[in-house]
Amino acid sequence: MDALVVFESMFGNTQAVAEAVAEGLAAGSMRVQVCEVGEAPALDELSVDLLVVGAPTHAFGLSRPQTRAEAAARTGGPVISATCGVREWLAAVGRVPDGLRVAAFDTHVQIPMIPGWASHAEEKRLRRLGATMVDGACSFYVHGYTGPLLDGELDRARGWGEQLAANVGGALVG
Ligand SMILES: Cc1cc2nc3c(=O)[nH]c(=O)nc-3n(C[C@H](O)[C@H](O)[C@H](O)COP(=O)(O)O)c2cc1C
Repeated sequence: MDALVVFESMFGNTQAVAEAVAEGLAAGSMRVQVCEVGEAPALDELSVDLLVVGAPTHAFGLSRPQTRAEAAARTGGPVISATCGVREWLAAVGRVPDGLRVAAFDTHVQIPMIPGWASHAEEKRLRRLGATMVDGACSFYVHGYTGPLLDGELDRARGWGEQLAANVGGALVG
């Protein structure tokens, strides 16, 4: 079975999580490709058994051109996903291929009581486009805006990837 992991990332933390999720999927016997969102194929042309989408949380949701510019200003150098984010990638299509199974994740700072994060925005949009979720949205945590990830998060991401691979062959979340 084939899986595609599409990620958006400014400083590399979400990319590292995407790669760890891919390792978990591969450990669960899936053939996996990892793709930065600016290089990803159109969502309505995908032919995979599982799509995993991940993005950093910006302003309680998905990034916009202005927040990506703010991220670049923080480093004073280039960011990884400067021109296209998951928001734009999802908005470019009206519907996903029939039966597409999907899981969403994000990275964000671990602050109690924050009102929203990117994976819930991804999940909402993907459901609206007709996707079937194979698991609830998952968050991974960073220290501050530029990271690094908290200790243990890459192991947790690998474990989640293995769980997703198992879910694709079993009961779906809806
Ligand atoms: C412009 C901007 C807005 C952000 N807004 C939030 C936020 O609302 N909540 C939060 O927990 N983290 C927020 N963050 C922190 C990001 O979630 C963090 O930079 C991201 O997880 C790092 O992943 P990356 O290296 O893949 O970009 C923000 C970061 C930037 C640059």
